[in-house]
Amino acid sequence: MSTKRKIHVALIYGSTRPGRFCDIVAEWAAGEIAAREGFTLDVIDPAKFDPSGAAASATVPVPTLAVRIGRADAIVVVTPEYNHSYPAALKSLIDSLKDEWQAKPIAFVSYGGLSGGVRAVEQLRLVFAELHAVTIRDAVSFANAWDQFDGNGELHEPDRPRRSMAVMLASLRWWAGALRYARQIAPYSSRAA
Ligand SMILES: Cc1cc2nc3c(=O)[nH]c(=O)nc-3n(C[C@H](O)[C@H](O)[C@H](O)COP(=O)(O)O)c2cc1C
Repeated sequence: MSTKRKIHVALIYGSTRPGRFCDIVAEWAAGEIAAREGFTLDVIDPAKFDPSGAAASATVPVPTLAVRIGRADAIVVVTPEYNHSYPAALKSLIDSLKDEWQAKPIAFVSYGGLSGGVRAVEQLRLVFAELHAVTIRDAVSFANAWDQFDGNGELHEPDRPRRSMAVMLASLRWWAGALRYARQIAPYSSRAA
């Protein structure tokens, strides 16, 4: 299995809410990934387009989203928790594609109140299983996220989240390399019962 090629990560914003906290968390996560050797990054923000393709004002058409997820080796979803689940905009983005998710590893950075968004992540694991994606056990979670970052988007206590991110990315890297190799050897569509 080749480990030399960089892992191409698509990082997806889970919230499109005006005034969203997602910008803070996603920018932190993107910075952590970009700072590491061995990864390239594509930031996908559904606030900047309509994944359903319905909006005339769409600046990034649906085929481009399909291509961007299709060429990703790995996906990192940054999601808040809304009513013990994840935002509708994120579901819309996920449901707008199908084959592009197959046999791809998906990792999560979540945030929210006391639960740190883990209930949103647990529901996303069910959704991605249906899409034949592989969710990564290790994750990063911010409980009461607004207390953890300062006004410049810097963490008051960065050590523990950075350790969690390192563990998550190590797992993501392993799965991304393994699944990329497996897809090359046998396209997922070639499997037969
Ligand atoms: C509609 C809605 C429902 C929410 N439900 C929960 C919840 O069930 N659990 C929780 O911990 N936080 C909940 N929150 C708090 C959000 O996790 C928090 O406001 C977060 O910053 C939202 O992300 P965003 O600002 O990027 O949209 C909710 C927020 C909204 C707007």
